[in-house]
Amino acid sequence: MDENTKKRILTGDRPTGRLHLGHYVGSLRTRAELQDAYDEIIEVADVQALTTHFEKPELIKQSILDVTIDNLSVGLDPDKVTIFQQSQIPSIAELTIFYSMIVSCNQLRHNPTIKTEAKNYGYTDLSYGFLGYPVSQTADITFCNAHLVPVGEDQLPHIELARKIVRKFNALYGTSIVEPEAKVSSTGRLSGLDGNAKMGKSLGNALYLSDTPEEIWNKVKVAVTDPAKIHLHDPGHPEVCNVYKYHCVFNKEEAPGISEQCKKGELGCVACKKRLNAVLNNLLDPMRERRAYYEQHPDEVKDILAKGNKRCNEIGNQNLAEIKEKMHILVK
Ligand code: TRP
Repeated sequence: MDENTKKRILTGDRPTGRLHLGHYVGSLRTRAELQDAYDEIIEVADVQALTTHFEKPELIKQSILDVTIDNLSVGLDPDKVTIFQQSQIPSIAELTIFYSMIVSCNQLRHNPTIKTEAKNYGYTDLSYGFLGYPVSQTADITFCNAHLVPVGEDQLPHIELARKIVRKFNALYGTSIVEPEAKVSSTGRLSGLDGNAKMGKSLGNALYLSDTPEEIWNKVKVAVTDPAKIHLHDPGHPEVCNVYKYHCVFNKEEAPGISEQCKKGELGCVACKKRLNAVLNNLLDPMRERRAYYEQHPDEVKDILAKGNKRCNEIGNQNLAEIKEKMHILVK
């Protein structure tokens, strides 16, 4: 199958720092798995990053390359996938404005992810851009008529909104914009090794794809385990242990045996953490190799983005011309 017959994926990341294992489990792993079967487009969502980090443009600038390299490091092949920068695609901005006419402010105010993020950032009076980013995200997904959006479950309200907007827009103007579907990873959300329900940059509990083996061990070493298991031979309760949760995600085959040994008091927490550490490094080692290559070849990374921008502008400009025609705002 070539690019023209394959279904399309669009997904992306905000360049506000490096990507971590939570991103990997939630979306990056799926991106790598689906890169052959789909025409896959990855967005570096720098405009969306501005909704929360508008006062830190230098961080966003650095992160654009970092996040691109994070994506390449998990094995996305630049000859197969398209990676582009949101701010370089004017058709996304145009489509955002058209969509904004048919979305109510209350619909956005009730979006649970917007509410959680506003609370986490301590926002009381939301900016127009922040409140409206799900509308802009709908344009991200639909400017190229993507069918599938691999995302973490926190993004589901946004995909639901995107579907509603597309249905309403198509009904109004007779356009045939594709109604996208979310693809949530079966693993669910990756919790923090500290017991927090989420792994996050701002929570200080992230294991980055770019961490060195030493950094990984320093974080695994202090993971919170079963508080009732103090000594090696104390019987443990894997069901309440953060390290065991990670074994279930990253070390599926050994997890049942580890659970048995832990319950019987045959496996101590330090040994158990060392096993997890080895598994994580096995996963991260090939990523480190690819990262090292791209870090030594930054011009190649910039070329990948430039090529992606060019392709997305071609796709977006053509689709927007058709959309404007249907909206009767092209005077010929
Ligand atoms: N909101 C997403 C996040 O915070 C990032 C994102 C921007 C995105 N545009 C997208 C995800 C389009 C999927 C599709 O992770």
